[in-house]
Amino acid sequence: MTWGLATSHVPSIGAAMDRGKTADPYWKPLFDGYAPAREWMARHTPDVAVVVYNDHANAVDLSVTPTFAIGAAASYEVADEGWGSRPVPTVVGAPEFSDHLVESLIDSSFDITVFQDLAVDHGLTVPLSVYCPDPGESWPCAVVPVLVNVIQYPQPTAARCLALGKALGEAIRSFPEDLKVAVFGTGGMSHQLAGARAGLINQDFDRMYLDAIEHDPEKLAALTREDYIREAGSEGIELIMWLIMRGALGPRIRRVHDAYHVPASNTAAGMVLFENLSPVSSERSATA
Ligand code: DHB
Ligand code: FE
Repeated sequence: MTWGLATSHVPSIGAAMDRGKTADPYWKPLFDGYAPAREWMARHTPDVAVVVYNDHANAVDLSVTPTFAIGAAASYEVADEGWGSRPVPTVVGAPEFSDHLVESLIDSSFDITVFQDLAVDHGLTVPLSVYCPDPGESWPCAVVPVLVNVIQYPQPTAARCLALGKALGEAIRSFPEDLKVAVFGTGGMSHQLAGARAGLINQDFDRMYLDAIEHDPEKLAALTREDYIREAGSEGIELIMWLIMRGALGPRIRRVHDAYHVPASNTAAGMVLFENLSPVSSERSATA
């Protein structure tokens, strides 16, 4: 595992890129904040990105709500969320790697749902655009989507997300082939899109989260879903997905870059990039 990226997935960040508005005064500070991380990631291209995200009832009907799911398809179409699909490349999968992750996770008692047919919405494509702004004909790496229910009560606990991340990390490291893998944790930061508290932003909580995701993920895993929703808003609970990335990375990491900008649409947009420092050969013993 080479690096982990946590990033917001606000749809208008993707729309700003698709419509050439990234240099507009409203958007420039946000994209300037991404630049050092993008430059570093461009020099560390993975073979596969495992992207932990949530579908927003675009591809997955609300009649079925898998708490945790994983894609095992050869490719994933870009979802049409109501105004046409984003003009970005189809996402190429890594089915053999997915199958290995599924088996390993189920053997670790994470009975994960498997998608063989999945369209990916802004929750996955916007983070790919944050990583790679100009993919051309194809994204720089294959992708394994990992889906989390953060939109219907009861969402999984933050503690369960951190535990899934640890199991996912072990699953990634036990793949017999020598693959370079990056892990994305997406969503957040504080935001609430509807109801009496629509527009809620909690900068103190977000700053605490940006620090603790590096130094004290257990503290974030101890927060209840009510804590997340009270402090970060009803959609801010997406932040629990950052813990899956953090759990997968393991103990020895280095913060490469972070950025925080308010507002992006109705949200606080954050990103933090970690390099994984555990050498491949000692990773298993370090996390055992
Ligand atoms: C919006 C949607 C999201 O899924 C999100 O995480 C943040 C913002 C929006 O519609 O503005
Ligand atoms: Fe979202």
